[in-house]
Amino acid sequence: MIPPMATNPIPPFPAGFLWGVSTSAHQIEGAADERLPSVWDTFTAEPGRVKDGSTAAVACDHYHRYPEDVALLSGLGVDAYRFSVSWPRTRFDEGRGLDFYDRLVDELCAAGVRPVPTLFHWDLPDGLDWLERDTAHRFAEYVSVVAERLGDRVKKWITINEPAEHTLLGHALGTHAPGRQLLFDALPAAHHQLLAHGLAVRALRAAGATDIGVANSHGPTWPASEEPADVEAAAFYDLLLNRLFADPLLLGAYPEGLGELMPGDVRSDLKVIAEPIDFYGVNYYAPTRVGAPQGTEIDFGGVRMPAELPFSVREIEGVPVTDFGWPVVPEALTELLTTLKSRYADRLPPVVITENGCSYPGVDDQDRIAYLDGHIRALHRAVEAGVDVRGYFVWSLLDNFEWAEGYERRFGLVHVDFETLERTPKASYTWLRDVLKAQR
Ligand code: FCB
Repeated sequence: MIPPMATNPIPPFPAGFLWGVSTSAHQIEGAADERLPSVWDTFTAEPGRVKDGSTAAVACDHYHRYPEDVALLSGLGVDAYRFSVSWPRTRFDEGRGLDFYDRLVDELCAAGVRPVPTLFHWDLPDGLDWLERDTAHRFAEYVSVVAERLGDRVKKWITINEPAEHTLLGHALGTHAPGRQLLFDALPAAHHQLLAHGLAVRALRAAGATDIGVANSHGPTWPASEEPADVEAAAFYDLLLNRLFADPLLLGAYPEGLGELMPGDVRSDLKVIAEPIDFYGVNYYAPTRVGAPQGTEIDFGGVRMPAELPFSVREIEGVPVTDFGWPVVPEALTELLTTLKSRYADRLPPVVITENGCSYPGVDDQDRIAYLDGHIRALHRAVEAGVDVRGYFVWSLLDNFEWAEGYERRFGLVHVDFETLERTPKASYTWLRDVLKAQR
């Protein structure tokens, strides 16, 4: 249980601050028969990959129920909705799969909710591979098609979601699709996603876009002790999570030692990767405590971490945890943002929190309210400390298919009964609606 909440109202955020919620295509849409398969469809079909043996074939059936979900968004009073476009769906039926996003964007605009599409949220078309450089070029072609189609109504774009997690879980450790266990040989997948981002920025600019960002996962990394081996291991983990993607994007260079591990001569790619962006999206959930390797394989929140890794993730003691086992430390969000600001200074564009949320069961979700309340206040402290933060998106609107965890982890402000697909707003939905009203 999270400690009692502050009783004073959440202080006002700057005028024009963007309040929203986030989802992703594979996690909510369903209608698998109206898309080409993605690597996630192939992965979930393999026995033992997803904890509850489920797939995202139906998920929340958002594909058919999107008008009801847009009504939930407008009832919540958000300014914006971050969803993702499923690349394999856009290829379905000779490209007619893209019609769905046309309908969704129209529905959002009619409801006065700003559409904020993410162009890649892990559901790579089956048959493509991030280890191949060509995938970055294919991505840019697809982005041009989407921008051409939706660019008259979509003004704010996100290129890719959490390339760090997609590289680590999907290509290095194998707990996510495509299920590879390449450890450090996964780094080309990181480089090609970064290149894809840069090429996508160019494609969006060519289509007239003026508000483009990325959504990267970040979190403070705390050494397990002051012992040099722990401090060194934590610094290395920090490099992988907080700098491997941010440094090339914002500074045009890989952190020391990592550029050499990338495929080929990356100097000209870095110019593409560092194309200026208009906002920097941060997905924040929790800090990580890291120590020297312990010589054994560990299971950390369902992720199997082999003994060969040059670090080991440790428990953060004395803080509450969500039902996923993730530590709840709101002040780490303030720390993260002030660290990003001091690390990147004027190279850091305005920040948008593109995901923040927690998994808890139940409809009377007081724990989620306390989590969100704590994090929104922590965000406000970062604004007071001078970080230019322009928006905050809760993960997620609906309970959904939480990747390898299946349907057991519930992150939604709205409960979904996966038998009947009935939606029930939780206590946190009503609470957030009232917070947004007060902000206005
Ligand atoms: C993030 C993902 C998102 C969701 C949340 C809980 O890493 O971007 O799809 O799974 O975690």
